[in-house]
Amino acid sequence: MAARAPGRVNLIGEHTDYNDGFVLPMATTQSTWVAAAPRADDRLRAVSLTLDAEFVEEPAATGPSALRGWAAYVGGVAVALRERGIRVPGADLLIDSDVPIGGGLSSSAALELATLLALLELAGCRMEAVAAADLARQVEHRFAGVPCGIMDQYASALGRADTVLLLDCRTRQWEHIPLVLGDYVVAVVDSGVRHDLAAGEYVRRQAECRRAVELLRVRHPQVCALRDATEAMLAELAREAEKPVAARARHVVTENARTLAAADALRRGDLARLGQLMLESHRSLQRDYEVSVPALDRLVEIAGRVEGVPGARLTGGGFGGCIVALVHRDALARLREALRRDYDAAGWGPARVLVTRAGPGAELVWSAAGVA
Ligand code: GLA
Repeated sequence: MAARAPGRVNLIGEHTDYNDGFVLPMATTQSTWVAAAPRADDRLRAVSLTLDAEFVEEPAATGPSALRGWAAYVGGVAVALRERGIRVPGADLLIDSDVPIGGGLSSSAALELATLLALLELAGCRMEAVAAADLARQVEHRFAGVPCGIMDQYASALGRADTVLLLDCRTRQWEHIPLVLGDYVVAVVDSGVRHDLAAGEYVRRQAECRRAVELLRVRHPQVCALRDATEAMLAELAREAEKPVAARARHVVTENARTLAAADALRRGDLARLGQLMLESHRSLQRDYEVSVPALDRLVEIAGRVEGVPGARLTGGGFGGCIVALVHRDALARLREALRRDYDAAGWGPARVLVTRAGPGAELVWSAAGVA
């Protein structure tokens, strides 16, 4: 049998998920596939075609610390399922993916969810999409050591073709908003930059957000997360908090407002407004949240100068990875040319352009009984 789980591109709503805020991602048509077959013994053997690597797990020996790299995602899912009393049989897994790895498109969420669906099917169990997303996120926390919010796994699990997911990360309610782009496409440009500091900086941003909440609660005990902060409270923080703390809070409050405004713009089919909000989001991530890097700023600047590109911004956690841009079909060639001239030839590149569409969420694509 085989399962597929998509990566995700976040159109807007960055670093808001762990602040109980709003996000607007879509599942990509780029996905990770896991084909699985039962084994006679209880070993889990996984081969990755993407990474040209293999790992074999001996169930008895596998604790969280024994797993490293991509094996942590695969073995971690098996461990987490067994802890819930689900009997995961020994299995051979073959993994392939066209989600760029480590590029801010949630290749890890895709791997977790595809593995999860494949192992569940072998165990003869089913799980609701939300429960699967929650479990995949726990695997990321425990076995990969990244204390991420809920966006990536929810986007991969709940994605729907031709829609974006407006997700309220506090109530966990969501709405699929039709992504009607007419002559425009969603293009992702990979900067080629991978940043090792990303996880450490991510944790530091979370701590700064908690600090902002702590300061606000002295006078406003109703504030439980930055989701609850208002523009007026930002003025207080600007007077009383350490400078970076006030700036982080300003990003989160304004980004939540931009995300809701972007959802409205999409409902109205106002792509010019959506593009403008994306550019504002990038500026806020660059100046207030300080998670951009020169390569990403450069890509956004180049894309922004191309006629037929209403907006672009970094997507994902930052510190490298990709930008997302809205691009008129006729402008794709101009964008590629501008990138070659001003990014690649200037020694930054090569920048890789990937055109994507909003695809369906994680699913079984083939089961022992036939096509799922
Ligand atoms: C990473 C995390 C997400 C989210 C983004 C930033 O992708 O996994 O939970 O916090 O960063 O928006």
